[in-house]
Amino acid sequence: MRTARIGLTALALALPTFTATAAAGPPPGRTAIALTDVLPAVAEAVPAPDAAFRLTPDTVITASGAATAVAGSLAAAWRPATGFALPVTETGDRAIALVLEPGHPAEGYRLAIRAGGVELAATRPAGLFAGVQTLRQLLPAEIEARSARHARWVLPGGRIKDFPRYAYRGAMLDLARHFHEPAEIRAYIDRISRFKINHLHLHLSDDQGWRIRIDSWPRLTAVGGAPGTGVGGAGGGFLTKDDYRELVRYAADRFVTVVPEIDMPGHVNAAQVAYPELTCDGVAPRPRTDMRVGYSSLCADREVTYRFAADVIRELAEMTPGPYLHVGGDEAMSTPHGAYLRFQRRVLPLVRAHGKIPVGWHEIAQSPAAAENDAVIQFWGRERNSPSVAAAGSRVVLSPANRTYLDMEYDLLTPGGLDWAGAIEVRDAYDWDPGALLSDVPAERVLGVEAPLWSETLRDLDDIEFLAFPRLVAIAELGWSPRSAHDWDSFRSRLGGYGPRWVRQGVRFHRSPEVRWS
Ligand code: ACM
Repeated sequence: MRTARIGLTALALALPTFTATAAAGPPPGRTAIALTDVLPAVAEAVPAPDAAFRLTPDTVITASGAATAVAGSLAAAWRPATGFALPVTETGDRAIALVLEPGHPAEGYRLAIRAGGVELAATRPAGLFAGVQTLRQLLPAEIEARSARHARWVLPGGRIKDFPRYAYRGAMLDLARHFHEPAEIRAYIDRISRFKINHLHLHLSDDQGWRIRIDSWPRLTAVGGAPGTGVGGAGGGFLTKDDYRELVRYAADRFVTVVPEIDMPGHVNAAQVAYPELTCDGVAPRPRTDMRVGYSSLCADREVTYRFAADVIRELAEMTPGPYLHVGGDEAMSTPHGAYLRFQRRVLPLVRAHGKIPVGWHEIAQSPAAAENDAVIQFWGRERNSPSVAAAGSRVVLSPANRTYLDMEYDLLTPGGLDWAGAIEVRDAYDWDPGALLSDVPAERVLGVEAPLWSETLRDLDDIEFLAFPRLVAIAELGWSPRSAHDWDSFRSRLGGYGPRWVRQGVRFHRSPEVRWS
């Protein structure tokens, strides 16, 4: 409804050129979009409804030094729909000024919108980038159009102070059950970074396939990435080292850190098909493209297992600038308990030895080596069925399956998705508190939240988008916004207002009946 009103205003003005638009007089005092219409919700906002800022063909974006690249990304985002030049310059009047200054928390920023100019300030470029994502939502949805539109490009006046509740706000994409091409992964990075998601966890190996080139074990991808290695025999494919490095760079430009995962000691059938010496009996298993889990295991008592693990971890660490390296550890039902502990005692220190912080699914908390190596524990249980992760004493990323698993179905009627952790509608994804999920984990040990998207039922970007949106935005808000901002009615209303943006971006999202879509 909001968007319709803006559209009508633009039509009523029926101005023939952009110059005429600019000459049409001072901006009206009010905008259809409120300062608080932002996903995820901002921490503090003080609206000044009479102080709206109007973009004109003369508007410049000012920035210098390390702020310049972020300013360039804002200009690039706004040029197509406005048709304005939006040059990035060192100084200028009535500007949108991006400023680096001390005193803001990590990724935090302040935004001041007045009739005479806009100031966005942060201590680091990551904070400016977060502020830019806020700014982009404060112009009408037409700003997402890829060609010039007649619209009143007016930002609502007021001040925002914003910063994240949690340092880690993640999305996971499974490349193993179905390989997703780099172009699809880049598109997903574009989509998730709009909501201040700052980690992309790539699940790179599993029973069906192996999706990252490892030079010292070349058959992993030659065999494990061959055509037909996806679930149901679909797909195949893998990332070359250049592909991976390029994705890491692309993500870093959007302030997203890539977290690579090699799943061990279970979920390794594809590796064992390629290298039978990785089994205890040395016999190659058959390739698997079904969806069963828990049948494969590395052999904890063969030295070749640790040569393999060391080589893979070393090569992965070498091409990963981010601090984390995920070593899986889930559903090792075919690994005897003692063997599992012996395996973790040797493998977790290898991650440390290559300068990375180990991350593992919560099963690794059974191993004293998890705490000894200060591993991050990723909880993926269901709330009512929570295993203890307290003993490990480590930081925890929360991915409760019945809230955050984006591959679960929305409801019985909506096509797509699995159901083992239940149906997850938007409100289910939203209505929980990461600070209170695990009674045995103190709030200060919660590093953040992550929404995994497993690929058994996925084929293309449309499938990814349909399951991720809007639920991923719920997880993004839980990770970013203060608990005091948690409000389902507010969230669903802001989400409804965001729909037209996804439409213009070409994102195929689930029109949840829980939300009134604009
Ligand atoms: C998992 O869902 N097995 C981590």
